[in-house]
Amino acid sequence: MSMRAVVYKGPKEVAVEEVEEPELQHPNDVLIDITTSCICGSDLHMYEGRTAAEEGIVFGHENMGVVTEVGDGVSTLEEGDRVVAPFNVACGFCQNCENGYTGFCTNVNPGFAGGAYGYVAMGPYKGGQAEKLRIPYADFNALKLPEGDEHEDAFALLADIFPTGWHGTELANLRPGESVAIFGAGPVGLMAAYSAKIKGASEIYSVDRVPSRLELAEEHCDATAINFEEGDPVEQIKDAHGGEVDKGVDAVGYQAIDPETDPGSDAYDPARENPAVVLNQLIQVVRPTGQLGIPGLYVPSDPGAPDEMAAQGRLGIDFGKLFEKGQKLGTGQCNVKSYNRELRDLIIQGRADPSWVVSHRVNLDEAPEMYEAFDKREEGVTKVLLEP
Ligand SMILES: NC(=O)c1ccc[n+]([C@@H]2O[C@H](COP(=O)([O-])OP(=O)(O)OC[C@H]3O[C@@H](n4cnc5c(N)ncnc54)[C@H](O)[C@@H]3O)[C@@H](O)[C@H]2O)c1
Ligand SMILES: [Zn+2]
Ligand SMILES: [Zn+2]
Repeated sequence: MSMRAVVYKGPKEVAVEEVEEPELQHPNDVLIDITTSCICGSDLHMYEGRTAAEEGIVFGHENMGVVTEVGDGVSTLEEGDRVVAPFNVACGFCQNCENGYTGFCTNVNPGFAGGAYGYVAMGPYKGGQAEKLRIPYADFNALKLPEGDEHEDAFALLADIFPTGWHGTELANLRPGESVAIFGAGPVGLMAAYSAKIKGASEIYSVDRVPSRLELAEEHCDATAINFEEGDPVEQIKDAHGGEVDKGVDAVGYQAIDPETDPGSDAYDPARENPAVVLNQLIQVVRPTGQLGIPGLYVPSDPGAPDEMAAQGRLGIDFGKLFEKGQKLGTGQCNVKSYNRELRDLIIQGRADPSWVVSHRVNLDEAPEMYEAFDKREEGVTKVLLEP
């Protein structure tokens, strides 16, 4: 049996093709019919050819749907259950999983800490930008949702970006009343700003260059928008705040645009990257003994890096300044399981509704056009959801 799925063909090219349907492989697997899967900024690193991803990968790590088949060893799920799966595939019983670090499971992807659906180096798990998906260790990995189709957009964001934005603020140990600078107003940065608002931050600065994204941060997160094309974002934040902020979040990652080139001049090139620029700006803008949360992705090897050092994941970070300021930092994949249940309940109870970040819900067949538009960070293209 075959089904439609989004398949990586090579740099800047995906196609919707017929692939093998998933099957139960282990007694604790379930199969789901996908109702919604999302395109993520993390997919773009593969899409742009900036990872070791090879042709043929089925994309899609942000998945929700309805259970259609249940393995013999599954005890808490049945056919018809509506579930959302963390993008992490995790076993639930290794040391890291036991400690809540499900993003670093040591059993699901031998030789590596961490597994995910549809992602290079994250194990053999097929992605869910497709009609169907196999969820392994399903009792552990599938989070049950209320029946029906209410909150479909908001719940879909529980697979990754709402927990990941929250994680950014946790990595920065953001406390009520503190001020925070969040670099990147893509879906993850916007969810970090929204989390900061929910947690009671006193001031939120949201840094990007895409006006429609900055507007969302102002409207839904009560953030102060900082356009890094209009001047050094560190100076802009210090001016607005009257000094350094308490905490910082990097929701950009290694493909950060270098704002050093004068935006006004003809030489300005928004494609020019500097993988350390955001980290160094955070070190500057966060106060001594403040903390940086870094959910933005960094890689140990980058085939398209601007220089040889960066190609090996070695960045020119101002470590001396970081030390001098006694700052702490936290990094890594989000442990979605640590947050998704509580964030689900905030949605069910009407205390949070992150669905404002969704700009498009389209048929799976439109994935190639939507990848292109999202990759260009086109105005008004923020978070794209696919339905089969
Ligand atoms: N840690 C995790 O578990 C996890 C999970 C999901 C995504 N991510 C990562 O988070 C990052 C953001 O993903 P996203 O989905 O929001 O998509 P995205 O790539 O669209 O968002 C990045 C945003 O950063 C902006 N930007 C670029 N250079 C900048 C700079 N110098 N200063 C400020 N802003 C700048 C871009 O304009 C864009 O809006 C990616 O690196 C992604 O891989 C990590
Ligand atoms: Zn994602
Ligand atoms: Zn584990």
